[in-house]
Amino acid sequence: MLSGPMPAPPPDARTFTAKTTSVTRCGDDGVILRIRPDVALPPIRAARFFMLRRDDRLSPAIPRPFSIYRQDGDELEFLIKVMGTGTSALAACTPGTTLRVVGPLGNGWPALDGDGPPWVMLAGGIGSAPFYMGIQQALRGMDGRAPARADQLVYLYGAARKGMLYDIDAFRSLGVRVEACTDDGSHGMRGNVLKLLESLWADGSVPQTVRLLACGPERMLEATEKLARAKGLDCWLSLESVMGCGVGICNGCPVPTVPEGPMGAWPNAKCCVEGPVFQTNAITLVGAH
Ligand SMILES: Cc1cc2nc3c(=O)[nH]c(=O)nc-3n(C[C@H](O)[C@H](O)[C@H](O)COP(=O)(O)OP(=O)(O)OC[C@H]3O[C@@H](n4cnc5c(N)ncnc54)[C@H](O)[C@@H]3O)c2cc1C
Ligand code: FES
Repeated sequence: MLSGPMPAPPPDARTFTAKTTSVTRCGDDGVILRIRPDVALPPIRAARFFMLRRDDRLSPAIPRPFSIYRQDGDELEFLIKVMGTGTSALAACTPGTTLRVVGPLGNGWPALDGDGPPWVMLAGGIGSAPFYMGIQQALRGMDGRAPARADQLVYLYGAARKGMLYDIDAFRSLGVRVEACTDDGSHGMRGNVLKLLESLWADGSVPQTVRLLACGPERMLEATEKLARAKGLDCWLSLESVMGCGVGICNGCPVPTVPEGPMGAWPNAKCCVEGPVFQTNAITLVGAH
């Protein structure tokens, strides 16, 4: 039996226009897009997202979703990896280009408090975007909870190669432990973030019981889910599923739920309105594809 309200977009989401203030190259194939919305926005929780498109014919008709990377006064920044038409159009914005924006959407990270085991953040490639403000907000305190101390936050950042560890020095400047790895060994340990975590467990510099947060390619998230289940760790994944509408209408972003888990009997959750952050006791990516 299904019960409860239909998942809906968050009440603070709105549609507005924004002007591009700058576009800065970042890494081999990324940009930091900085925009000034024409409405005032309150502080936004890390790992929430916005749907973006240019207000001209260069963007596809369907806007694309992007995590908030940084909020600085009345401007927002997005860390964008150029993939196809939508991201190319955004990367080609120049100061003054008008964007159409919907957001803030989605739920964001849980309260990253200092009351339990350390938080280990696993980021893969462009999956780093939701972590910058996540670290800032954890250090400041979220939802009235005790702030995390810097030594309770460990940021593990992996990518195919050095040029895809986007803006890593900015993460280092946050004052938490940052460790990097690359598939080709061009920066940090050779290997992926899960191998990196295993090595930190092996050398004893990270305790065995941690709380995991992860964002990155689907295979990395599947492996993180498996690890969390095997070790009985609390774990939250921020999913970057392909989305159509971003507001719960098109059914274009299904995420398989754990049968009889906390999300109830329906076999799929909607990533856009029930996520993009899900705890692994509620959804399962393993075997979904
Ligand atoms: C909640 C959320 C937050 C996101 N945050 C960010 C972010 O901060 N920065 C960022 O760069 N991207 C982010 N993404 C992914 C981003 O939305 C896609 O890369 C973008 O929609 C691609 O649009 P495009 O028109 O350039 O590519 P398309 O022309 O649509 O596709 C080009 C190629 O990219 C592949 N592709 C498209 N979307 C994805 C995807 N979601 N995952 C993997 N491959 C994809 C396609 O299969 C195709 O091969 C996020 C996605 C979600 C759902
Ligand atoms: S993207 Fe349309 S329902 Fe989620």
